[in-house]
Amino acid sequence: EKDGHDWFMRKEIFEQPRAVADSLLGRRSRSGALQLDEMRLSDQELRDIDKIIIIAAGTSFYAGLVAKYAIEHWCRIPVEVELSSEFRYRDPILDYSTLVVAISQSGETADTLQAIRHARTQRSKVLAICNTNGSTIPRESDAVIYTHAGPEIGVASTKGFLTQLVACYLLALYLAQVKGTRFGDEINQVLQQLESMPDHISAVLEKSEQVYDLAREHVDSRSVLFLGRHAGYPVALEGALKLKELAYLHAEGFAAGELKHGPIALIEQDMPVLCVVPPRGRDQLHDKMISGIQEVRARGARTVCLAEEGDSSIEPYADVLITLPRVPVLLQPLVAVVPLQLFACELATAKGHDVDQPRNLAKSVTVE
Ligand code: M6R
Repeated sequence: EKDGHDWFMRKEIFEQPRAVADSLLGRRSRSGALQLDEMRLSDQELRDIDKIIIIAAGTSFYAGLVAKYAIEHWCRIPVEVELSSEFRYRDPILDYSTLVVAISQSGETADTLQAIRHARTQRSKVLAICNTNGSTIPRESDAVIYTHAGPEIGVASTKGFLTQLVACYLLALYLAQVKGTRFGDEINQVLQQLESMPDHISAVLEKSEQVYDLAREHVDSRSVLFLGRHAGYPVALEGALKLKELAYLHAEGFAAGELKHGPIALIEQDMPVLCVVPPRGRDQLHDKMISGIQEVRARGARTVCLAEEGDSSIEPYADVLITLPRVPVLLQPLVAVVPLQLFACELATAKGHDVDQPRNLAKSVTVE
């Protein structure tokens, strides 16, 4: 049942190319336009939306953070991302023109369920992004986009996360199509890029041995930091969460630009810092990230850099370089998070932990 893997989690990591491909299936109409069958909200209802609030917990919350970058960029709609457990308690401003997007792999997370119930009392429309057919959250939502990860057994979410990202990109592109903020050609181009992601993810999985060696070298680390920028920032947060959950290790993710505002004081000799380097582009993101990496290295950090292939500018500052396929910055989380999942899985295995059933955690958190 684990397909020869030691853990369900490892099996599920390796299923990700398939899970992403399945989540993209059947999303185009005959004319080539993007279609979302279970959308259930009319084009007019979607055009009336002037604000989106994404609510989710844990890993699903990080998918929501990536979604914010995509939706704001492609659709020019303001997006807030909020932890489900905090949402109701701050008197959020909601009305019929607010779309609340609830992201939940299980569809049963109590905090998220209570948050959508609150949103509906305020007349907001609720769209669920969910992996579990017929679960409570999609049943209580106005619309749903199902991810097609298949059952996720490992407590740590992996393929659930990647397919949530796909659903978020599809939602963003669909809104752009309906609202006319992007042309069909551009939407089509991104869809094609998404369709090539399963191959890119497979290419990253082929490097698993390199990541496993790295994980085993760090089995005695006391603390691991993760840095990212832009869509790589939620990836850094997710890398840290995986390590906390599975290896019971102190790990934190930071936006690289925040280093100098405090976290750089944490850096000690040989502290591992895993850095998600944005692709080279027209903006200064990539170069700013490199200067952040230089700063931590100058203070003794051991830098592990995840950067696109051919990016030689990173080489002088990377103690370890893990290359990623060349993909656009918004889609980079789909490939960049994979080595971080493998790293946490292997480090926890090396420590002798139960990777599928980490201590103190449950697969779905049905209490508030
Ligand atoms: O089922 P959900 O997506 O609503 O679950 C949310 C979190 O409980 C979940 O992502 C949790 O953080 C995972 N254990 C992360 O690996």
